[in-house]
Amino acid sequence: MDWGLQNRLSRIIRPTDGHTVMLAVDHGYFLGPTRRLEIPRKTIEPLIPYADALMITRGVVRTSIDPGSNVPIVLRVSGGASVLNEDLSHEAVTTSMDDALRINASAVALSIFVGAPHEHDSLVSLGSLVNEGEARGMPVLAVTAVGKELEKRDARYLSLACRMAAEFGAHFVKTYYCDPGFEKVVESCPVPIVVAGGPKLDTEMDALGLTHDAIQAGAAGVDMGRNIWQSDHAIGMIRAVRAIVHERATPKEAHEAYLKGGKAKR
Ligand code: 5RP
Repeated sequence: MDWGLQNRLSRIIRPTDGHTVMLAVDHGYFLGPTRRLEIPRKTIEPLIPYADALMITRGVVRTSIDPGSNVPIVLRVSGGASVLNEDLSHEAVTTSMDDALRINASAVALSIFVGAPHEHDSLVSLGSLVNEGEARGMPVLAVTAVGKELEKRDARYLSLACRMAAEFGAHFVKTYYCDPGFEKVVESCPVPIVVAGGPKLDTEMDALGLTHDAIQAGAAGVDMGRNIWQSDHAIGMIRAVRAIVHERATPKEAHEAYLKGGKAKR
């Protein structure tokens, strides 16, 4: 791996423990003003001190993030279908590598849709993005998107999608946690995996449990959005997630320290 690429990646995945807490706030690129992310700056700014990186679009970077904040940016560069479209897989690269470099991104991210109508296009886009990333020292995060077909989140499907992403040259992969079999997904993917939280779970303990189980199974960290900023205790939640990812806290310890302990504020 080239020095520059490795240096960028190490801004996201901490070399000290090989783990990361990425805060995903890119949902608007196909969902529009998602609940509690209606005014991006208001939601994101208080959470920045606790995020190892932001997963975000260029529009929200430029309008809503202070350039002096120095938080590493994982720039979403794919898009093209809204939530109103039955086929969410019709995406392409929408943000150039030049713009990613201007923004001083630490990585670029695009979705792949294995098994979906536009599987081919998304995989070819991944290959091209990796070619550009290797040429410029820019890591590529492949997101194994499942569109509206949530039943695809089993170990067999996720192993296939994650392994393909790594074979195409992605430097790290974002996927969903699954039970059973997540450790097999991690084992058969030769690059680090970060897990999405998915739609808001019933309780904060559910999201902390998911984080804990994913780390125990070998994930490098999380790239979590709604389960953090849709919580009534967003700061407490991200601090609790950090305690699990970086300090090996149990969900109960993390919950007690940051949510029940009264230290959490929205
Ligand atoms: C959409 C994404 C989002 O960043 C994502 O799903 C992560 O956020 P959440 O934890 O809310 O699921 O990549 O394709």
